[in-house]
Amino acid sequence: MSHEIIAIDGPAGSGKSTVARAVADSLGWSFLDTGAMYRAVTCEAVFRGIDINDQNAVGDLARSATISTTPRVCVNGRDVEEEIRSEPINVAVSVVAANSQVRESMVARQREMANEQTRGTVVEGRDITTVVFPNATLKVYLTASLEERSRRRGEEGVESVARRDQADFTRETSPLRQADDALVLDTTGRSIEDVVGEIIQCLKNITSS
Ligand code: CDP
Repeated sequence: MSHEIIAIDGPAGSGKSTVARAVADSLGWSFLDTGAMYRAVTCEAVFRGIDINDQNAVGDLARSATISTTPRVCVNGRDVEEEIRSEPINVAVSVVAANSQVRESMVARQREMANEQTRGTVVEGRDITTVVFPNATLKVYLTASLEERSRRRGEEGVESVARRDQADFTRETSPLRQADDALVLDTTGRSIEDVVGEIIQCLKNITSS
């Protein structure tokens, strides 16, 4: 591996994005939100009126789309930063993320994006510790109670969060699971600073040993 990776996985509302961004800022590393990529493909499929259950059509779309996640999420030149968090996309993204053709294309892009960075990268998602970067410098699995995760999600609501969890844990391709050697952190009732501090301390312990 040409540079360092901190891989973070966990269910919706476990604090991945906030924590990953803060860890990246604190280390001066880049940050990659892979969920935004699956959401961007989903937006584009809906925008073009493609049936999200048509695996080949959505696979073709995923392979051909231009996707960027910073400074705003864009797909094929269209800004979808707000749309990716809408309820129709929350529902449809579980189907698109279960499509193995879509995953293959996203995983290849994620590896490329991280490799292009001159410094380290903090990458967060559902399969980062298990599939995308199984040899990451540090692997973290964040979790929290369903109650707290739904509270953090606000408008999305407990039913939608529980439904996405179920889809992510049980799908055939790259289901969400804890890597055997991940640092498992339950963020229920813990502050962001506290969790970020523990991850950075753990990284220091690894790199100094
Ligand atoms: O922010 P939240 O954790 O709710 O979701 P997200 O990270 O934006 O991801 C949205 C959806 O994309 C998840 O529910 C997964 O179905 C899928 N996803 C995935 O399958 N693999 C990833 N590496 C990231 C997201």
